[in-house]
Amino acid sequence: MTQKKLTRRAFMNKLWIGLGAVAFAETVALVVTFFKPRTPRNAPLEQDTVIIAGAVDSFEPGSVTAFVRGKFYLSRLDNGGFLALSRTCTHLGCTVPWVEDESRFVCPCHSSAFDLNGDVLAPPAPRAMDLFEVSISNGQVSVDTGKRIKRTAFEPGQAVYPGRA
Ligand code: FES
Repeated sequence: MTQKKLTRRAFMNKLWIGLGAVAFAETVALVVTFFKPRTPRNAPLEQDTVIIAGAVDSFEPGSVTAFVRGKFYLSRLDNGGFLALSRTCTHLGCTVPWVEDESRFVCPCHSSAFDLNGDVLAPPAPRAMDLFEVSISNGQVSVDTGKRIKRTAFEPGQAVYPGRA
């Protein structure tokens, strides 16, 4: 009877040790997977970040066009320049919609507002909307969403104009 009890106890000890080893191995595998860098297969290729927005003439001066792919707005300034504005609020990262009736971007989270240039009209946003790199070639506007440009405020030199290098 005593020997059977010891055998059962020994079996339970081995079972717990085995289960502990399995749990430890799973934890190690989870930690390794978490810290392992993503495979290049998942990383976007550089050309995947470039979006052809369209012909220069298809964007009216003083207009804002939303691009779902790339998550940006193409803003055509009154003087013909282009800015590609990130739709992410510089306060806490909410998506900022363009409100056509008010001619401004208004964040639904804490009411920050931005003008056509992405400049802050109303806080708490601490700085202007981020930009993406714009290029114009053969009359076509392209935006590279892989190149985010942070800025404090709008400066005229940030706009890209057709016909200028
Ligand atoms: Fe936009 Fe706070 S996240 S105002």
